[in-house]
Amino acid sequence: ADTKVYRASTTAPVNIAVVKYWGKRDAKLNLPTNSSLSVTLSQADLRTLTTASCSAAFQDDVLLLNGEPSDLTGARTQACLRELRTRRAALESKDASLPKLSAMRLLLVSENNFPTAAGLASSAAGFAALVRAIADLYELPSSPTELSLIARQGSGSACRSLFGGYVAWQMGSQADGLDSQAVEVAPAAHWPEMRALILVASAAKKGVSSTSGMQQTVATSGLFQQRITDVVPANMKRMEDAVAARDFAAFAEVTMRDSNSFHATCADTYPPIFYMNDVSRAAVRAVEVINAAAGKTVAAYTFDAGPNAVVYYLEENKDLVLGAFYPLLEKLDGWKDGAKGLKSSVQFDE
Ligand code: PMV
Repeated sequence: ADTKVYRASTTAPVNIAVVKYWGKRDAKLNLPTNSSLSVTLSQADLRTLTTASCSAAFQDDVLLLNGEPSDLTGARTQACLRELRTRRAALESKDASLPKLSAMRLLLVSENNFPTAAGLASSAAGFAALVRAIADLYELPSSPTELSLIARQGSGSACRSLFGGYVAWQMGSQADGLDSQAVEVAPAAHWPEMRALILVASAAKKGVSSTSGMQQTVATSGLFQQRITDVVPANMKRMEDAVAARDFAAFAEVTMRDSNSFHATCADTYPPIFYMNDVSRAAVRAVEVINAAAGKTVAAYTFDAGPNAVVYYLEENKDLVLGAFYPLLEKLDGWKDGAKGLKSSVQFDE
């Protein structure tokens, strides 16, 4: 029997949204209630490396995540595997000389180069790397946008990690989700001075998962309706213009306003959801102090579904921003915890 092992490896970066995805209109297909836009971080600092292999000798699908056996049976992971196998099977049925990889079990070995316990969303890089590694193994002729349609079904934000630079996830309008995909807004080289500082306010796992937080927000927040009909469409347009013009002050204002708007809808749910904590709020104040002292906007904060801050700034203002943060946050518990994990300034990627 053929016991050959077929193998492919790839990496995918972490992305941090500056206009947030928050709300599903279809939970099964991960179709969002609004478009979103993100910045992809440097793979030197934050990425997932995944090797996908398959062989007729393998008995089961297996995922090893940072060396530990991990669950592959979740509906979202299964949706990704099913989509990829279906595409491979279509190629095999057209060309009988191709090995029947679609019928073989998969071994997926995934490593993050950052502490998973740092409380950073790793699912985006994780699903993006998983989907691309298997697509490469299966030799599927897929563009990043096509792969984004599959990665989206694993974790919504993962669809944006198929690209570097500035990336939009277009919400789409179709019920089948075939137009809910990621597109490049600008490559990293368009605005290569962009930097991100990650402040680990808590390494604990987040309290309310993004899936249940979104569900509760859609179901109970009154503010949420206004966010998806007015706030986000305006922020998407402003953000695309800010990136096109490399206008940091505009980029920063939209980033901070959109983060505030997202966390306001969380606080507006019943019962309320609080992702930000006292350390998060200290980081907001620190950014305000930095910008006031500089006499212009040189730093922008944003928060995902957890207390950690991501602060965007330009390389030319590095000393101003980092210099202000170290002494301010050194005194806080959260910063000292975080210093063991991740406190680096993350550079931009190609
Ligand atoms: O991709 P998910 O289901 O983990 O949701 C991510 C939600 C946010 O990180 C809060 C926002 C975003 O656009 O990434």
